[in-house]
Amino acid sequence: MKKIVHTALALAALSLVAAPTWADDMPDGAKVFKKKCKMCHAIHKKKVGPMVASMNTAPEVLKTTITNGRKRMPKFGHKLSEAEIDAVVAFIQENQSQAAE
Ligand code: HEC
Repeated sequence: MKKIVHTALALAALSLVAAPTWADDMPDGAKVFKKKCKMCHAIHKKKVGPMVASMNTAPEVLKTTITNGRKRMPKFGHKLSEAEIDAVVAFIQENQSQAAE
């Protein structure tokens, strides 16, 4: 029991150190995706929306769709910063190149 508490404390301390480095100028696309997109999109599986692996590959199209929405895809222009949208576009593109193997 004591060990578990120690581990939890260590993890909490670690996340305190790690979090601020992501917070401002460098948003983590994977994190944005997990928080805002994962309920409707998966990498290799169709959910409410299309799977990431088969999405349009043009960054401008991805960005416009995420910013303005499309049909049942909600718009995120007012919810995410430009940098966060860029980060999540980069995340989508990374996962597209893996899928093309
Ligand atoms: C409420 C569910 C929902 C959420 C949340 C959601 N999407 Fe979507 N998304 C959809 C649906 C449905 C479509 C298909 C829209 C259509 O029919 O044109 C879609 C389409 C897309 C497309 C277009 C794919 C293409 O090939 O052109 C992109 C890119 C996309 N979503 C990215 C995201 C990202 C990034 C997030 C998180 C910031 C997100 N979506 C959150 C439901 C969602």
